[in-house]
Amino acid sequence: MKKSSLLAIAILATLCLSSAVLAGEMSTAGLYVDGKYIKNEDNEILMLRGANRPGTEYSCVQYAKIFDGPYDAAHVHEIRNWKINVLRVPLNEDCWLGTNGPPESFYFGEQYRESIKKYVDMITSNNVAVIVDLHWASHNGTLATEQVAMPNNKNSITFWGQVADTFKSNSRVIFDLYNEPFPYGNTWDSEDAWQCWKDGTKCDVDNVTGMQQMVDAIRETGAKNIILLSGIQYATSFTRFIEYIPFDPLKQLGAALHSYDFNYCRSKGCWDVYLRPIYESYPLVATETGQKDCLYDFLLDFLHYCDKNSIHYLAWSWLTGDCNIPSLIQDYMGTPSNFGKGYKHHLDVLGNGEEPWWSDSFDMYNDKLTHWVDNWSTGDNIVNATAQTYAGKYSIQFTPSAEKSLHLMCWDCIKNQVHKSLEFWIHGGASGNQNLKLDLLKLQADKTNNIAQSYDLSNIAGGPIPPNKWVKVVVDLTTLPRQDSYDGFWLKADTDQPDIYVDSITVRAINEPPPDDFESSALRLPSPNTLIVFLFSILYLLF
Ligand SMILES: *[C@@H]1O[C@H](CO)[C@@H](O)[C@H](O)[C@H]1NC(C)=O
Ligand SMILES: *[C@@H]1O[C@H](CO)[C@@H](O)[C@H](O)[C@H]1NC(C)=O
Ligand SMILES: *[C@@H]1O[C@H](CO)[C@@H](O)[C@H](O)[C@H]1NC(C)=O
Ligand SMILES: *[C@@H]1O[C@H](CO)[C@@H](O)[C@H](O)[C@H]1NC(C)=O
Repeated sequence: MKKSSLLAIAILATLCLSSAVLAGEMSTAGLYVDGKYIKNEDNEILMLRGANRPGTEYSCVQYAKIFDGPYDAAHVHEIRNWKINVLRVPLNEDCWLGTNGPPESFYFGEQYRESIKKYVDMITSNNVAVIVDLHWASHNGTLATEQVAMPNNKNSITFWGQVADTFKSNSRVIFDLYNEPFPYGNTWDSEDAWQCWKDGTKCDVDNVTGMQQMVDAIRETGAKNIILLSGIQYATSFTRFIEYIPFDPLKQLGAALHSYDFNYCRSKGCWDVYLRPIYESYPLVATETGQKDCLYDFLLDFLHYCDKNSIHYLAWSWLTGDCNIPSLIQDYMGTPSNFGKGYKHHLDVLGNGEEPWWSDSFDMYNDKLTHWVDNWSTGDNIVNATAQTYAGKYSIQFTPSAEKSLHLMCWDCIKNQVHKSLEFWIHGGASGNQNLKLDLLKLQADKTNNIAQSYDLSNIAGGPIPPNKWVKVVVDLTTLPRQDSYDGFWLKADTDQPDIYVDSITVRAINEPPPDDFESSALRLPSPNTLIVFLFSILYLLF
């Protein structure tokens, strides 16, 4: 057979495959909420795993176009190769309505609506669900060019009425009412903020619409689609979500969470406290997740938590560019960024019906304070000290005194039933002989700490801290009560002490799975030495 006919067959096969449900793939049609689950037309529980496809919220007000990057079937094919079954498409209220901005044009108003409809229909015809979200709403009747605290009581309602009417016959489409509400600014928990969120009253800004009015506008069109509601504080807080959730006669509501490594709530203990009540009663969709340092340590910990607790997730984002966007890809053929590698691998493993690798061991400090800990230190300390390092580029340097502690708080993260030790390395600086205590802590309801276990540092470091030398400190957890758990630890002195350095702080699991090759190879770049050896081996092979 000639090459060209092979190509034709390949293209034909691709086209056939892409417009149908692939063998072994679950249908994303007929989506509905059943208790805390999202189910499909076959009444199967469907887990949404996907990505955000940014561009449609900003291109129309910044670049006089609609999309950022490709929007054709080929790029959706690449996306599906990642085993993604949902895309989130962010929308701009003014571009959709053709209000507050330039005259109607190919990217503004009717053409925008037409293009979005075509794009969404094309995606869903590939058996990929779509979450459309009101990302940028107008403020004070001015063009929507950025995030604002809440949607408005005029156009946002009209917007949702039209969007619902447009997509009500497409059961693969989910409505995400408002990207990141932030009434009362960064407020994590206030009744007024939640009241504002619910129905637009008691707000700190004028002319706001609440979730209830938007739910009503959608249901008035007869649309039965699932509706997601983001919590306050930029979709991170759910403190009074259950109390204030709007009324939906169809009971098709779910919660939308944004989860990044820089959020207030970014560790398992915190998720247990604040998210558990939500995902035990409603579908919870992490409509955005990611981290901005090109790594994926936070991402994988969060995904592991989601998989265990039936939480849906979509990474930010399917957009080429700097990894601190963060961006999953280097090009639209789907070549992963380093951050994207972590996500792609996770989806691949799940897609093969396997359990992704995960360990209960975790780092508290490894050149950065990891997402597991909050820094509750009282004194100044230097997080990126370079004078002494045990591993990597940095250590923590601090000057102990009666008032100043190095305090790492981690929300119930150290569990004797699961962990065998807390380990780190310590360097006595030029002086050595620091007199320090290490206390394992339990957080009280009033946010003060109880000392659960107390150690003289010299007892667990094998003797007095030597000068000019690193020594390992091991807190043996296996001899402590089995049921105990701790919210972190502090290093503290009774009197002023010379500077000291701490590095590589790790909590070790009792049962350690064998290392995952992918993990160790992808997270660390080869050292220059390895590269040189590698180059020489190639030269050797060549000549
Ligand atoms: C919106 O209007 C209020 C009241 O007139 C004003 O204080 C505020 O600065 C306006 N905000 C914007 C973004 O224009
Ligand atoms: C709120 O709406 C009222 C009534 O339409 C209007 O007079 C007022 O200027 C609006 N306030 C802002 C801040 O847009
Ligand atoms: C922890 O907080 C202290 C006190 O606010 C600050 O000086 C220090 O730089 C922080 N340290 C780390 C390790 O982030
Ligand atoms: C420490 O270094 C990292 C990486 O170089 C940097 O991103 C971070 O901002 C630094 N932190 C502090 C507290 O200086």
